[in-house]
Amino acid sequence: MTNDFKNSKKERIGMSKVNVVFWSQSGNTEAMANAVGEGVKAAGGEANVVYVSDASLDELKSAKAFALGCPAMGAEVLEEGEMEPFVTDLEGFVSGKTIGLFGSYGWGDGQWMRDWVDRMTAAGATVVDGEGVICQDAPDGAATEACKELGKALAAI
Ligand SMILES: Cc1cc2nc3c(=O)[nH]c(=O)nc-3n(C[C@H](O)[C@H](O)[C@H](O)COP(=O)(O)O)c2cc1C
Repeated sequence: MTNDFKNSKKERIGMSKVNVVFWSQSGNTEAMANAVGEGVKAAGGEANVVYVSDASLDELKSAKAFALGCPAMGAEVLEEGEMEPFVTDLEGFVSGKTIGLFGSYGWGDGQWMRDWVDRMTAAGATVVDGEGVICQDAPDGAATEACKELGKALAAI
C-alpha cells in the first residue's frame, strides 16, 4: 500500500492523529506516555508521542484533542524549565479542546495534577474524565491500563 493511499484513506475514515506530549526525568511519565500512545493505536488512531522540546505548538493548535504528561516536580508543580512555559503557551488556545492529562508522582497526594486540571479547565478546555491519570513512581498494570484507556478516549474524539 502506498503512503498516498494510506493517507487518503486515513482522511476518508477520519482517523485521528493524537499528539502525546510529555516531560520526564526518570522515565515514569515517559512510560505512561507510551501507554497512552498504545491506546491511541489500539483504537485505530495515529499516535505521535513526543518529548515536550520536540513538540509543535502549531500541531496542537489545529488538533481537537491531545494528551499532556508531566510528573510532580518542585513542590507540587509542573517541571519549570520546559513543561511550565509550554503549558503557559497552550493556555491561550486550548479553549474548546479536549485534553488528556497524566503524570507520575513520588511522595505527594496529587495536588500538582489537581492544579493542572483546574488550570486547563479555567482556560476553557475539557479534561478527559475531569481528572488526570496519575500513578506513584513507575506505572503498574492498572496505571498502564488507565493510560491506554485515555489514549483510546482521545483517539475517538
Ligand atoms: C526535583 C524533584 C521534585 C519533586 N517534587 C515532587 C512533589 O512535589 N510531589 C511529589 O509527589 N513528587 C515529587 N517528585 C517525585 C517525582 O514526581 C517522581 O519521582 C516521578 O515518578 C518522576 O517522574 P519521571 O520518572 O517521569 O521523571 C519530585 C522529584 C524531583 C526529582
